[in-house]
Amino acid sequence: MTSAASPASLIELHGSPLYVYDLALVRARAQQVRAAISWQPFQPLYAIKANPCPAVAAAIVGEGYGIDAVSPGEVALALRLGVRPDLVLYTENNMTDAEQALAIAQGVLINCGSLDRLERLARSGAKQACVRFNPEFGDGAHEKICTAGPLTKFGVHQSLLGEVRRIERETGIQVVGCHMHIGSGFLDATAFSKSCEVIFAIAAQLPHLQFVDVGGGIGIPYREGQAAFDLATMGATLSASFAAFCHRYGRALELRVEPGRFLVAEAGTLYTTVTSVKSNPDGRVFVGCDTGFNHLVRVAMYDAYHRISNLTRPHAPSQVVDVVGNICESGDVFARQRALPTAQPGDQLALHDTGAYGMAMASTYNTRPLPAEIVIDGPTVRVARRRQTVDELLAQYVW
Ligand code: LLP
Repeated sequence: MTSAASPASLIELHGSPLYVYDLALVRARAQQVRAAISWQPFQPLYAIKANPCPAVAAAIVGEGYGIDAVSPGEVALALRLGVRPDLVLYTENNMTDAEQALAIAQGVLINCGSLDRLERLARSGAKQACVRFNPEFGDGAHEKICTAGPLTKFGVHQSLLGEVRRIERETGIQVVGCHMHIGSGFLDATAFSKSCEVIFAIAAQLPHLQFVDVGGGIGIPYREGQAAFDLATMGATLSASFAAFCHRYGRALELRVEPGRFLVAEAGTLYTTVTSVKSNPDGRVFVGCDTGFNHLVRVAMYDAYHRISNLTRPHAPSQVVDVVGNICESGDVFARQRALPTAQPGDQLALHDTGAYGMAMASTYNTRPLPAEIVIDGPTVRVARRRQTVDELLAQYVW
């Protein structure tokens, strides 16, 4: 980073709190996924829900990615980024008929998460669909982000394949895509590989397929010393097992994956300023910041862990503290009993690996505006999203 892009100067220019993304790292991760999968044809999609900031998504699209979208807003964003409609997959989940009609008009393939939706899509005259199956093996860093298995609302249960075939026969719709997404944030590919085999067995019975999409979910090492996901081994295993499947199927199909977190998490940092430091009589120290779970909900919601650095005094003696936000709830905590350099009001802190599901899940709770988003692209630094003002926030109400 050049000095013009030092966190201190960025905060001075753009205010605190502040999200900053490093596009070089985003591109490197996008290339890493491509390099790991040798099977051709291969089409990665970016799960844009992880970070919908157009500047970030454009960097990934620039690496030849399509978009995995889950709402009309995400489809609109993808099309506005110039992504061809056939490279946008709309993975629906309880979509409305109006949303279905819009997606059809936009030329986007719908990935149906229920028999209900497949039937209605077929009856609307659509010729093609993708179907998301629940392969029974879920995984994920927390139960709230495990998206397969008996407890999840997602996908068509694998045992209902016969019904999918019946709808195909009765309506003439062709299931051209077979999809799964088993969960988010796994660092071990055991469940993923197992569910790939289940999904390939399902795919083998769908005669009109053009692609199989095995979803996203690759985790990143959030904790100090944690080992990274072994992408090279996963890529080699997946390429080999997909090749064997295509051989059995009798045709070379397109393989798709749809990572979100892996591409953007490590490239993002949430910078915040310490506003107060206080000690309770029992010795517990609270380091309070000018942001909270309104801007980064992952810790409160999933007990997630984010590394924290004190940029102002990195070498101060260590102190065990709770790092907390400025939202009026006791759950507004970024770290409990963490050893950090002793902080003082005014210090700047970095909450690391917050590029995925950080700003994407931010809210205006407590009527606090959203922070700005800055992208660093080599020597260039630019504002990707302006800081929201209180006036802008209040202007949405009908007074
Ligand atoms: N495909 C589908 C259909 C998905 O639902 C998701 C994520 C992905 C792909 C991308 O998963 P990834 O590669 O990012 O793991 N807010 C949570 C994560 C929720 C993930 C939801 N679906 C968090 O902060 O950890």
